[in-house]
Amino acid sequence: MKNSTLQLVKTHQPTKGSTLVVFAQIQKAGKLSSVKISSPTAQKLLQDTIDDKTITGKAQETLVFRALSVDGYSHLIVLGLGSDKKHETFRQLASALHNAVKSLKTSDVNVQWDGAGIGKKDLALCTQAFTEGFLLSDYSFDELKTKKKDDEEKAATKISLQTKFAAEASLKKAFSDALILSECVNYSRRLGDMPGNLMTPTILADSIVEAIKGTGIKAEVWDRARIKKEKMGGLYGVSQGSHQEPRFIILRYHGAPKTKKPIVFVGKGLTFDSGGISIKPGGGMEEMKYDMCGGANVLGGFLAIAKLKLKVNAIALVPASENMPGGGATKPGDIHTARNGKTFEVNNTDAEGRLILSDALCFGSEQAPQMMVDAATLTGAMVVALGNTHTGFFTKNEALNKKIQTAADKSGECVWRLPLCDHHTKDMKGTFADLSNMSSGKGAGSATAAAFLEQFVEESIPWAHFDIAGTGWSVGNRLPYCSKKGASGVLVRTFVELAKLFQ
Ligand code: BES
Ligand code: ZN
Ligand code: ZN
Repeated sequence: MKNSTLQLVKTHQPTKGSTLVVFAQIQKAGKLSSVKISSPTAQKLLQDTIDDKTITGKAQETLVFRALSVDGYSHLIVLGLGSDKKHETFRQLASALHNAVKSLKTSDVNVQWDGAGIGKKDLALCTQAFTEGFLLSDYSFDELKTKKKDDEEKAATKISLQTKFAAEASLKKAFSDALILSECVNYSRRLGDMPGNLMTPTILADSIVEAIKGTGIKAEVWDRARIKKEKMGGLYGVSQGSHQEPRFIILRYHGAPKTKKPIVFVGKGLTFDSGGISIKPGGGMEEMKYDMCGGANVLGGFLAIAKLKLKVNAIALVPASENMPGGGATKPGDIHTARNGKTFEVNNTDAEGRLILSDALCFGSEQAPQMMVDAATLTGAMVVALGNTHTGFFTKNEALNKKIQTAADKSGECVWRLPLCDHHTKDMKGTFADLSNMSSGKGAGSATAAAFLEQFVEESIPWAHFDIAGTGWSVGNRLPYCSKKGASGVLVRTFVELAKLFQ
């Protein structure tokens, strides 16, 4: 199934081959309710399945009745609501519906949205979540496969959310926001899913320059020579071992008066991480095409901020490079100088993310922002610590921490704060330079990496670092609206919610 479109409607006229979707939910006494259809035959059939416990109403349970002919519809889908009606539940529920619709191959689907039993207060948020969940489930990365003919011929699937509140402004806004957000998450996912040879630093920069057309975002892209001239020794040093030129991508969006301080988003855009001279083992190395997901997600989030016309001034910074072991590559022991003049020894060329981010964080600090956040697939240690469910983040700023928790609650993405303190900073001191890119201590690899980054952030700026090493792409056990294998687009939605808190 390709290119589903969604719409909010007050009424819906069934067409040939169309599908009706109703909800089943568990009431207190374990009884099912909300499955009300006007066709007595269908109602009886449903009641029978309820009586013999075929339907339990569990969240995401789907029951598909094919060729049932009910109220003019050809098919009927019963979706289990469960008992917990958080907005995230609806995001995941939409993914279950997506699977059911795919199995039916129906192109006209009417969801009896009023039957989902959502109170007026939560209606906008749940509608947004459901719409996002459906469109995020609709993403697949198959553009590099030779397409089958009937895929192209198949008409797009139209999903109607039928509700008596369809014309209400708050609902319409939540719905259109969801369209923008899912489009931008899927934009980020595609960048991440593209293989390293087709998503080089140059291609990444060209892609965003194309995508910002008509959004009011201004882009500036620095090439290798400019990066050197701008004293970005970290980014320049990492790129030395590759034939591919690095890029430094700067995006600016003005949604507020010029006098308002900007918010800055920084993302690691390492388009392929071989480890460099400290080369990685071969097994699983192909996954290192995802090492630019921090950058990709910052770009997608930034697009959304502009498309949603948020009243903020914002800057996105993406240092983009390959990390390769070519003849000119940085060698273990080499010392480079970052943009703020601090020197660092590169004791392991595989700890390259912190090096390219150092210059970007210096540049970000120079913009005198209200706050700065960065996202990076920075450390394998993060996968050990939190696995694939939570994004770990570090901040010393309590006010920013609160805002991040609020934003993540709203987006439904799981984040977890981890400690960052002077012990970690001490571990990053160099022997022959100011800093080492490797910790002298044992363990806490994600925190020591964060402590390294902190050296490049001007002290007074509220800053948080998000390590998405475990959540940037899926390995089969992530959320139902993420591909089983592929980039997740994590933090795009949380960063947008965070930006809203700075309006
Ligand atoms: N891109 C990797 C981190 C990574 C590893 C992300 C696995 C996702 C999954 C990063 O550049 C790296 O290699 N970090 C090293 C740092 C170490 C040498 C201090 C790591 O984590 O092993
Ligand atoms: Zn690395
Ligand atoms: Zn890396």
